Amino acid sequence: MTDISGCWDDVHREAARLKPLHLRQLFAADPDRFDRLSVRLDDILVDHSKEKLDPPAMASLLALARAAGIEARRHEMFRGETVNVTEGRAALHVALRGAADDDIGTAGGNVMAEVLAMRERMLGFARDLRHGRVASATGEPFSDVVNIGIGGSHLGPAMATRALAPFHDGPRLHFVSNVDGADITDTLKPLDPRKTLVIVASKTFSTLETMTNARTARTWLGDAAAHQMAAVTSHPAAARDFAIGDERIFGFADWVGGRYSLWSSIGLPFAIAVGDKTFRSFLEGGRMMDRHFRTAALEGNLPVILALIGIWRRNAMGWPTRALIPYDQRLHLFPDYIQQLDMESNGKRVGRDGSPLARPSAPVVWGGCGTASQHSFFQLLHQGTDTIPVDFLLAARPLDAPEDHHAILAANAVAQAAALAFGRTTAGVEEAMEASGGSAEDIHRLVPHRTLPGDRPSTTILYRQLDAMTLGRLVALFEHKVFVEGVIWGLNPFDQWGVEFAKDLAQQVLPMVQDGAGTEELDGSSRGLIAHLDRV
Ligand code: F6P
Repeated sequence: MTDISGCWDDVHREAARLKPLHLRQLFAADPDRFDRLSVRLDDILVDHSKEKLDPPAMASLLALARAAGIEARRHEMFRGETVNVTEGRAALHVALRGAADDDIGTAGGNVMAEVLAMRERMLGFARDLRHGRVASATGEPFSDVVNIGIGGSHLGPAMATRALAPFHDGPRLHFVSNVDGADITDTLKPLDPRKTLVIVASKTFSTLETMTNARTARTWLGDAAAHQMAAVTSHPAAARDFAIGDERIFGFADWVGGRYSLWSSIGLPFAIAVGDKTFRSFLEGGRMMDRHFRTAALEGNLPVILALIGIWRRNAMGWPTRALIPYDQRLHLFPDYIQQLDMESNGKRVGRDGSPLARPSAPVVWGGCGTASQHSFFQLLHQGTDTIPVDFLLAARPLDAPEDHHAILAANAVAQAAALAFGRTTAGVEEAMEASGGSAEDIHRLVPHRTLPGDRPSTTILYRQLDAMTLGRLVALFEHKVFVEGVIWGLNPFDQWGVEFAKDLAQQVLPMVQDGAGTEELDGSSRGLIAHLDRV
């Protein structure tokens, strides 16, 4: 096997060969391009034929994946080895959706018993609340649930609850994450404190924003607080100190990373919204993707293929951002969710051993929903001076939505990907303008403005319908994609020291903003900003 440095050389050589070729040429040269550059898993299709790739380039990427030791690292993660090397922890989010007899997390003893106990306790509470067996201080069923959390303690449950809106038959769900008092004020204002449960979701149970919001919510609940608050955390002692009783504290292990925690007790608000049957279907979807990731040959392994496309775009083609565009309104929070999963995992500059990375790591991940995005930033995607690869997500079937709308949605997704890839030639513009009676002068004047360069890559992920199992498969698919990219870049995708420092810095600056003391220790800009805040 070629060593990893040689594999990188091969990948760059393939890129140099392909860069000058337009996607129009690549499709003209190979009528079977779509079949050669798409992979399937049941109803899921990943079409990467509109990437600046071809089979030899894919082969060089697969050789790179093998040289990076993907199979060994994947085995270590599923076994529960200490893959989070800087925090000395495993990263066993796969266990959270596992079954009792799954061969997971055995390195440090069997974690499945603890996982299943925590899962059943959380789901039992959700079930009792939905059926009124867990009720408010006045004995009434809860009409509303407010989840207070941030980052992975917010984005996952919020995204999943909105994604499975058709299955939402429990109390109304509200999500507060920003410490800006407007968030909790606007959320609580229309609610009745006598019929609202407040969940404080925080792995550390110390995040300043979350604890500030939790104190405000506790005041709002008044005497009912003792009865109408719950906690989800890896630090139950801190929750007890917040006067939340043990029967309302739902735990998860410290080897669950925040951005990987939706499957754990952090999913409590999601389970309250949709019920445990749908929640279990979500878990089963994740478990199905795990089985595929663990057993499929790399050539047909969806997370591996998506990761190699990511490596190709970032390192071979040099594109620093990528756009994630679900053509699925209920996935409107999916780009936000994937931003944390991707950029907090792989937004690193040093490798596992602490040495600076030899090449760029995670791109900037951003996005929006189709078709709305076509009427906001797609102009730049089509005619801007930068190439920005796009990941499209689209269901084949609508779920609890009119069929005629779905045909229009799907047509737009397909058309946009084609326009990005193949553009609109000068000749095509001239022909269209002549056919519509355009004057020679207008044609000459407008052709440069109406020509689309094309050669703008995208990958399209199709799935049958956005049900709970599919949502589980998609989330696990992206988790494993991020993991494979991290392995190839040689970094630790499971820590987040950068944001930990910024959290601590905010604690130091807080008293300076509150009473203007001690700002002489700050830099001139921060001093000036705080002074201005005081003055206006
Ligand atoms: O952003 C840093 C971070 O630690 C995330 O990884 C985490 O999801 C978020 O803050 C919230 O942390 P906690 O769940 O401990 O409140």
